[in-house]
Amino acid sequence: MSILPEKVELKTPEQILVMRRSGALLHRVHEMLAEAIRPGITTNELDDLAHAMIRDEGAVPNFLGYHGYPATLCISVNEVVVHGIPDDRRLEEGDIVSIDGGLIIDGWHSDAARTHIVGEPRSVADRELVRITEDALWAGITALATADRVGEVGAAIEDFVADAAGDSLSHLEGFGGHGIGSAMHQAPDVMNYRTRSRGPRVRPGMCLAIEPMLIQGPGNWVLEPDDWTVRASAGGRAAHAEHSVAVTAEGLLVLTAGDGGAAELARRGVVAARDPLASAGE
Ligand code: MF3
Ligand code: CO
Repeated sequence: MSILPEKVELKTPEQILVMRRSGALLHRVHEMLAEAIRPGITTNELDDLAHAMIRDEGAVPNFLGYHGYPATLCISVNEVVVHGIPDDRRLEEGDIVSIDGGLIIDGWHSDAARTHIVGEPRSVADRELVRITEDALWAGITALATADRVGEVGAAIEDFVADAAGDSLSHLEGFGGHGIGSAMHQAPDVMNYRTRSRGPRVRPGMCLAIEPMLIQGPGNWVLEPDDWTVRASAGGRAAHAEHSVAVTAEGLLVLTAGDGGAAELARRGVVAARDPLASAGE
């Protein structure tokens, strides 16, 4: 740990346009996976589909090979919270499946995660877990729109989850989001709860991956012997939602959302920045 905080990479509008292209392709990969996911498919098959699509589009998967990570996606089923490695497991009706992926276009990274329930949810609690995780992400994004300091994002996520779930859901402690840009993981940390740090000032050009990870019941977790898989160890199941978001002089742009975040932000009283892909004719 150094005394000086690491420098935050501020992107130019031109660089944010490329990050938006990266995020928009990642959005389409997630849409494709949402269509493909069904009982009987293996998590390896989903990984292969994502890898082929990213390569066909001329982009590069950024998880594959990252500190030796062996796949294109992290697929975390049921009590696995994050960083599950795809394998030959067949998905079953009612499974809770978090898919996290990322890619690089022209050197600029995107990173986004969604949680699906295969077919019908097994319980109302499962449906609520997924809904609250997604809404917690949007609560964090909404807070970023008016935040002075990055730490306000985590405070908003913590308050939202406490209001929506009381103590029925726990945060995955020790994990959070991050700056993103010319590398997948950059300063600053973006925690999902209050910490002692207010974090750096929010400024135009800052790009953050915001990613709440929630577990039913207590938040205890263990790292599996594969050194990646993070598993909830008190019996609850888990969900994860993530977007890469750019702060611009004209407002927020949700880089990994189909519409740049316009609809979800409008529902929360926030006007999104104009989507630069629209004016770039893409
Ligand atoms: N989106 C994940 C995160 O920010 C990236 C996983 S790292 C990998 O934690 F190596 F698993 F790809
Ligand atoms: Co991330």
